[in-house]
Amino acid sequence: MWVKLTNISSILSHLLISISLVEAFIRCYDTDNFTINSTYGKNRDLILASLPPNVSAKGGFFTANVGQNADKVYALGMCRGDSSPDDCYKCVNSTIHDLVANCPNQKEAVSWEGQPCHVHYADRSFYGTLEELGNPEAGYNTGDIKSNLTEFDTVWESLMDTVVRNASNGSSTLKYATEEADFTVFQKIYALMQCTPDLSHKDCDSCLRQSVSNYESCCHGKQGGYVTRPSCYFRWDLYPFYITATPSLSPPSLSPPPSPGSPRPVIKGM
Ligand SMILES: *[C@@H]1O[C@H](CO)[C@@H](O)[C@H](O)[C@H]1NC(C)=O
Ligand SMILES: *[C@@H]1O[C@H](CO)[C@@H](O)[C@H](O)[C@H]1NC(C)=O
Ligand SMILES: *[C@@H]1O[C@H](CO)[C@@H](O)[C@H](O)[C@H]1NC(C)=O
Ligand SMILES: *[C@@H]1O[C@H](CO)[C@@H](O)[C@H](O)[C@H]1NC(C)=O
Ligand SMILES: *[C@@H]1O[C@H](CO)[C@@H](O)[C@H](O)[C@H]1NC(C)=O
Ligand SMILES: *[C@@H]1O[C@H](CO)[C@@H](O)[C@H](O)[C@H]1NC(C)=O
Ligand SMILES: *[C@@H]1O[C@H](CO)[C@@H](O)[C@H](O)[C@H]1NC(C)=O
Repeated sequence: MWVKLTNISSILSHLLISISLVEAFIRCYDTDNFTINSTYGKNRDLILASLPPNVSAKGGFFTANVGQNADKVYALGMCRGDSSPDDCYKCVNSTIHDLVANCPNQKEAVSWEGQPCHVHYADRSFYGTLEELGNPEAGYNTGDIKSNLTEFDTVWESLMDTVVRNASNGSSTLKYATEEADFTVFQKIYALMQCTPDLSHKDCDSCLRQSVSNYESCCHGKQGGYVTRPSCYFRWDLYPFYITATPSLSPPSLSPPPSPGSPRPVIKGM
């Protein structure tokens, strides 16, 4: 079972809301609105509609802007590093529809559906910037780590460090990494991290390390979790929840891999 934390500040006040991991995460910013049928609104709809084909055709990352002066709209779309072009198209398409439905007249909105894609538009340029836009979203898998946590943490922390380094060391078109580590012969730890690739190496590193640290403060000792911000995404679990380009030759793990996005059965006595 997954628990979604509405945001990091709610973690601190222990206000937990139990909803599905796959539920869309959308934030509309009410600080500035446009009116229906305005040029800004038309530009927004135009730029959003251009995202699905372009993001999927450009390897999962695309930015564009349209319009002049106060009517200029900036947009960014990104798919998770293991998405196929087809899944990427479908995800971005459904996300832009959710954004328009949820944010009918807001000049800025962001969606990171946890997985597997991310869309952001605004009346300002945010490319290459580490975006915070309020608290991150986080969630965890309710099962507890049953084995020696000190030993688990050593393997976990080393894995997180490797994945942060590899993801932030990516290119200007892809900053994505996954990696697994053996905790015991029977149990692996899996992690996935991704930044919007317009970020610098340093900002990507800092975004991901902040997310890992947020996870540790809220959810240490749980069997999996995620933290998502507009600029980076982090998830880890005890089963392979991402697609690896080169299939692993390791023997099958004790837990059957569930279908992507679905909650995983709790492993007892790992
Ligand atoms: C923008 O619109 C929302 C409702 O759609 C409203 O709650 C908010 O106060 C508006 N913001 C401004 C600055 O007018
Ligand atoms: C927006 O434009 C459409 C088509 O021109 C029109 O039918 C509709 O009444 C307009 N809405 C507003 C709020 O002006
Ligand atoms: C985005 O895709 C559309 C449709 O494929 C294309 O017409 C348009 O030129 C693309 N936009 C950019 C900025 O590449
Ligand atoms: C895009 O999403 C909308 C709303 O979910 C859907 O009606 C439409 O068929 C989708 N288009 C494509 C090409 O998948
Ligand atoms: C957990 O492992 C550490 C390091 O191996 C060890 O020092 C500690 O005693 C263990 N704790 C328990 C409760 O077994
Ligand atoms: C880091 O990424 C490189 C490719 O950029 C890959 O060859 C290497 O295996 C990765 N290392 C780890 C530990 O994931
Ligand atoms: C960063 O990536 C480059 C090119 O893929 C590679 O040569 C280098 O070893 C990587 N550095 C680290 C610390 O992963």
